[in-house]
Amino acid sequence: MSEYAIQRKANLDTFTPNKVQFYESDSLHAILIGATKAVLQYDLKDRTKVFKTEQLGDYRLPEYGLVNYLPDKESEDDISPLFRRENIRYMDFACGTGLLAQNLAPYIKSGTVIGIDISEAQIDAFKSKIPAIHSLNPRLVVKPYKYDIIDPEFNRENHLEVPQELQYGSFDIITTTLSFHHFSALKQIVVELKKYLKKDGCLIVVDMYDHKDEYKSVQGAAETNLTSAVAHNGGLSPKQMHEKLDPIGFSSVETGIKYLYEHWCNHQNLYNHLPPPVVAKALKSAPKRQRAGQTEYLVTRSLVLAICRK
Ligand SMILES: C[S@@+](CC[C@H](N)C(=O)[O-])C[C@H]1O[C@@H](n2cnc3c(N)ncnc32)[C@H](O)[C@@H]1O
Repeated sequence: MSEYAIQRKANLDTFTPNKVQFYESDSLHAILIGATKAVLQYDLKDRTKVFKTEQLGDYRLPEYGLVNYLPDKESEDDISPLFRRENIRYMDFACGTGLLAQNLAPYIKSGTVIGIDISEAQIDAFKSKIPAIHSLNPRLVVKPYKYDIIDPEFNRENHLEVPQELQYGSFDIITTTLSFHHFSALKQIVVELKKYLKKDGCLIVVDMYDHKDEYKSVQGAAETNLTSAVAHNGGLSPKQMHEKLDPIGFSSVETGIKYLYEHWCNHQNLYNHLPPPVVAKALKSAPKRQRAGQTEYLVTRSLVLAICRK
């Protein structure tokens, strides 16, 4: 089995129907609200606004206090021009349960959204959201697909046809949120995603990063951890992300820390995402709460934003 196939299996073993419940948590919804705003604003002229580091809500408030956080739909200053165009083509790669597409739907004038993911459980959850997405925006064609963009053998074994919308040079934007730290074959995936973009199209990455200076020495130590669903333990810093994306040949690559936030994580989530010293510290001294029969720990994290233009 190739290294990529081993690591993909770890992902498939993690993203099961049970895991889908985690996607309905208040923390995850809050993070996705932040990612939605970052995507809506990726192309504003004012780049300091696009990369301004913000505190993402307050974990003590219902829905993290983010109910009115997204920009007004009519605001020309706060939303990238793409969202005012007709018939845009948008791909959410490693789309999971479709939360981002659902959040973005009211802002897209018209067009096609395709979701791509290797996990059937995630794609099934996305499919179940299609009626809700259509009621938010009837002018949107929404198609989630289970598909592997870099491994034809996986597609053959699973009888997966190439999605008809998946054509090179045809997408205005491609997003990938909270997924980058899951990819062992990061470079191969991004090289392929770039081919699907139109000229001037953008790849927008939002990913978790454990930004605390005291753990910097651990960052990267567990890179390409093949037996874990998370290949890049602790996530990638803006600098590490830039180093990975720059050689791929985009006309521009911008990265930065977009959000700081406090996040409730269960035991498994902590172990999967954070370096051992951070986990040990959280278990010992982080604030705790009980949810759905599990203990959750409050940890501080950040979200890195990368915008790559073809
Ligand atoms: C943490 S989830 C994020 C899902 C979604 N983007 C979100 O923000 O809610 C990571 C996703 O990456 C998907 N994934 C992992 N490896 C992948 C690969 N090689 N190709 C496509 N999707 C992959 C997983 O199945 C999972 O749905």
